[in-house]
Amino acid sequence: MTAVGIHDLAIATAHHVVGLADLAARRDVDPGKYLVGLGQESMSFPAEDEDVVTMGAAAARTLLHRTGADGVRWLLFATESGVDQSKSAAVYAHRLLGLPPSVRAVELKQACYGGTAALQTALGIVHRDPAERVLVIAADVARYALHSPGEPTQGAGAAAMLVSADPALLEVEPVSGVATADVDDFWRPNDASTAVVDGRLSVSAYLAALKSAWDDHRARGGATASEIDRFVYHQPFTRMAEKAHAALARHVGLPDGERLGSGLEYNRRLGNTYTASLYAALAALLDGDDALAGRRIGLFSYGSGSVGEFFTGVVRPGYDAVRPRDEVTRALAARVPLSVDEYERLHAARPTGSADAVTRRVTDGPYRFAGVRSRARRYENTADRPSAAAEQGGSV
Ligand code: COA
Repeated sequence: MTAVGIHDLAIATAHHVVGLADLAARRDVDPGKYLVGLGQESMSFPAEDEDVVTMGAAAARTLLHRTGADGVRWLLFATESGVDQSKSAAVYAHRLLGLPPSVRAVELKQACYGGTAALQTALGIVHRDPAERVLVIAADVARYALHSPGEPTQGAGAAAMLVSADPALLEVEPVSGVATADVDDFWRPNDASTAVVDGRLSVSAYLAALKSAWDDHRARGGATASEIDRFVYHQPFTRMAEKAHAALARHVGLPDGERLGSGLEYNRRLGNTYTASLYAALAALLDGDDALAGRRIGLFSYGSGSVGEFFTGVVRPGYDAVRPRDEVTRALAARVPLSVDEYERLHAARPTGSADAVTRRVTDGPYRFAGVRSRARRYENTADRPSAAAEQGGSV
């Protein structure tokens, strides 16, 4: 069977960053709770002219500069913070990226699992015709209410992947294990801009889905724990990956703490990126270790509500030359910090509805949300224009 998998991967962040030590001080919480207890150092926060479309297209732009778009006939866009109930974020991204009309564009949703749903769909498409390549984008803005337990686990960012035959990064193996269960652990009603979440239930539902998906993976002939060299997990906060790995280790009789790998670094600083989180973890693992060629990685994806999936992939020889290994670190370092006052003001600003409005220019990214005209969202390709920082002195 033709090897099919992830050929290349790029990560984008929102423009701003909020330090969790600052937030802890303002909330009168011991910083150890956020930095150690949750394992989070900072959270990316979108400027007012950013959303999932601008971040997702920015990640895809970086990716396509390396790979080109030859053979791409599908753009699958996964998000749970979409911008329209009908038109897909994929169609907006399709135009911003200058893709030809012969590329289909569609959005997928199932909480944080959507990125993996898109990846698995893409793998099936490429298996049907190995000459095709599929552009997968996963982008989200994780927003919880101010002062809520979820507040320090917000974040914003995107992952873009090119799925192809004979991939350069990761061959995804055909067996995977799935666990779907109707659970009210996290959801966002149509009239709400922040999620409704039972945090404790979401942690236990995540762990239950992991064990159930693992059992399904094994029942279908998937690799045993001792045949898997590294594990990466969906990371709503990075401590969750450590909890998950400990739970799986107990479930399968693996020594605790072994082989978790180094996939925590980016999400510790990005915060939760929902659909993109697992793929930011994969990027961190691949960037942080140059001895992974031929190693098998186990990946666990979880989306509240809930769907979980455990699958495996084998790292391809030469993977460490595919992407600049400091690309994500540089993007994280370039974020513009917000004071807690500025963050609270931006958080409280109601997201633009369907009334006509012009959005202030803030982001330096290649694409921006320019506002609403005739009740439709308008996006600009800013790559060829002077930077916002140059125009505004970098102020928020
Ligand atoms: N130093 C070090 N660790 C500390 C600490 C301190 N000063 N104070 C608390 N902690 C630890 C706690 O012991 C706990 O660790 P443990 O889970 O290993 O026991 C951790 O910090 C979190 O504290 P907790 O009291 O459980 O936090 P919380 O109830 O306020 O919020 C969530 C935790 C996950 C419920 C909350 O962040 C949330 O709702 N998040 C959004 C939903 C989510 O991400 N779900 C995940 C699955 S999808």
